Order: sequence, then structure tokens, then C-alpha cells
Amino acid sequence: MPQSRQPSGDPADGVYFGLMSGTSMDGVDGVAVRFEAGKPPVVLAEAFVGFAQTLRDVLAGLQQPGHDEIEREALAGNALATRYAVCCHELQRSAGLAPDRVRAIGVHGQTVRHRPERGYTWQINNPALLAELAQIDVIADFRSRDVAAGGQGAPLVPAFHATVFGAPGETRVVCNLGGISNITILPGNGGNDGDVRGFDCGPANALIDAWAHRHLGKPYDDGGKFAARGSVHAPLLDVLLDEPYFAAPPPKSTGRDLFNEAWLDAKLSGFAQLAPEDVQATLTALTAVSIAREIARHAPDCSAVYACGGGARNPALLRALASALADHGVRADVATTQALGVPPQQVEALAFAWLAYRFTARAPGNLASVTGAAGGRVLGALYPR
Ligand SMILES: Nc1ncnc2c1ncn2[C@@H]1O[C@H](COP(=O)(O)OP(=O)(O)O)[C@@H](O)[C@H]1O
Ligand SMILES: [Mg+2]
Repeated sequence: MPQSRQPSGDPADGVYFGLMSGTSMDGVDGVAVRFEAGKPPVVLAEAFVGFAQTLRDVLAGLQQPGHDEIEREALAGNALATRYAVCCHELQRSAGLAPDRVRAIGVHGQTVRHRPERGYTWQINNPALLAELAQIDVIADFRSRDVAAGGQGAPLVPAFHATVFGAPGETRVVCNLGGISNITILPGNGGNDGDVRGFDCGPANALIDAWAHRHLGKPYDDGGKFAARGSVHAPLLDVLLDEPYFAAPPPKSTGRDLFNEAWLDAKLSGFAQLAPEDVQATLTALTAVSIAREIARHAPDCSAVYACGGGARNPALLRALASALADHGVRADVATTQALGVPPQQVEALAFAWLAYRFTARAPGNLASVTGAAGGRVLGALYPR
């Protein structure tokens, strides 16, 4: 069984960078963090480097099969690595670090296909170019080994959540609201990692963003204001929730392969008369209800749900989550991970820095209880500087 805690004075101790660019395709979140065995991580700097609309369009185009994919993917990998390098330089500058002070960069890459049932998951990146540009060791491709061991390859953040957010005597849920939502259930049994569970619940912002883009011409529904102007349309919500993924038992993971605009348009076909703000309110409710249902099923006794990721900046979404939990009989407070001392936008990037730390220690990064893999595995591949 993988253990998240290491003996003190581990040779892997040091400063790591974590870079996360998720399914929202908004840009890359980065952190510089010092890990020392037995101590809480210390964040030295954070940075965000956005993706231009042209890069977003290229990435979105690669989500589906199309012409000349290999060339388009390779060029997108170069463009991403260049943005990742800008993020690393920003981290170095703001933390005052020379490249040789950084043990490694843990970089997720950009998922364009996630098909563990077919034996693969694919993140676009050019880690060799990033190593060249940053002159720092790069550790990439964290998900493939878990898939090779029969796992979902996702989510990978629960092991990190367990090390920083677990509390004895209290069941906590950490809920990441990126393009897709995932939850980690941390039982209050003193940190036995084998009891940690976690899985993707469904879309978090992916559809909300798509709808905001279509009707507001903006990349997201700022503060959830557009949704707040509308009302939830119960028959549409039922049609959306009818997707079998929501009822499937864990382990499970999903992505834009399933929850994309084509999926939404197919579901909306009978609802052409609905006002756009009512659709937005209903999509926000979809995110909230799909999460609340899973918490009611798998962690009905949880005391609090701690949101992280960009969706933690959407008050309409957090309100919808609190009300959906109450509707499902879960008496849990809804807060953000800030209440536990970690800014919500840092959590995922921290997790990938931690995975690089685990790789450096040659320690498992996955939790078999989460992904369904045959066991704990060392995740990632090294591109030396
Ligand atoms: N001020 C805000 N109001 C509403 N939503 C926001 C706000 N800021 C960020 N978001 C949402 O968060 C998303 C980015 O979240 P992030 O955690 O980076 O996701 P991912 O890991 O998928 O990239 C944006 O696409 C948007 O939907
Ligand atoms: Mg993002």
C-alpha cells in the first residue's frame, strides 16, 4: 500500500515546481514549493500564465479525431512547453531561485484523450523542450503508469490531498472544480491511505465555460453572475443527469471525451425555447447536484466540503453545491481550501510538484484505492536538464 508519509531527512527533500494545465484550457497554474519529509509543504511562489485563444482553439481541435493530428499535436506540445517555461521563469523570478536550486518540475501536460478503458491516456507536452528552456529536470507523463497497472490514471491528486488535508476523527471531502470535477474522500481514521477514495464526478466548468463563451463571448461566467440571473429548469436538469456516467460506481474518471459541447447540444435539442441564463443556471446545478449525489452516496457523514480549482471563485456554484448537499441530506459546510491554509488555485499545481517529489524519492504517487490500479506505482518519466 502506498504511504504518503516519508521518513525524515529524505534525500528527495528540496524545492520543486508544479505545473497544472487542466481541462478548462485557461492556462497553466504553477507553484514553487519546498518539501521536507514530515513537515507541511512551504509555498515559495505561485504564477499563472494564460493561453491565448489561438492556442485554446488548437487544443480544443485536438480533443476530437481530425486531419494531420501528429503534426498539430507536436506543434501544440512545443507551444505548451514554451508557455510552461514562461511560468517556470516567473516562479524563479518571484521566489529568487536559480535553476540549479530546483530539484525538478512536475508537469501535467494537456489532456486531449483520456481512455483508460482502451489502455491509454494522452497529455500533450514537449518535456524535452521544457527541460532545455528551463534547465531544470522535468518529470512528466504521470498518468500512463497507473493506466498500465490497470487503473484509471485519474484522479492523481487524492494522495496529496491525504497528506495535507486529512484530519483524525473527521471525514472531509476535497472537491476540485476545474473543467471536470473530482472529489477526494478523506476518512477520519488517522490517515490510512488505503481508505482514501476519490473519483471524477462529471463536468465542473467545462460546460459552464462553453455556454458563457457562446452567449457572453467570454471564457467563463465571472462570479457565476450569468447563472444567478436564471432559474434551474428541472426537466433539463433531469435529462442532463440521465447520463450513465453519473450513476456508475467508482473507480471512474472522465473528461472532454464525454462532456463536451456536442454532448450538451444533443441534450439541449428539446429545449430550444429556454433562455440562455436558465440553461446556465441549470448547468451550474448539474455540476453541484452531480457532486452532491456522490457525496451523499459515498461520504454521507462528511463534516465539510473544501472546494479548490477555479470553480471555487464562482459563488453561484458554491451556493448551488451547498443547497444540493442539503437536498441530499448531507449536513456538511461548504468552504474553500483557503480555510485549511491553501489557496484554492494552488492545490492542483502543488499536487504535481508533490508527484515530482514522490518520483524523485522513487515512491508511489497513486492510490490504488482511488484509481483501481493493481498497486502503488512510481509515476512519471524523467527528462534530465
Ligand atoms: N472569477 C471566476 N468566476 C467564475 N469562474 C471562474 C472564475 N475564475 C476561474 N473560474 C473558472 O475556473 C476555471 C479554471 O479553473 P482551473 O482550476 O484552472 O481548471 P483546470 O484545472 O481545468 O484548468 C475557468 O475556466 C472558469 O470556469
Ligand atoms: Mg486551469
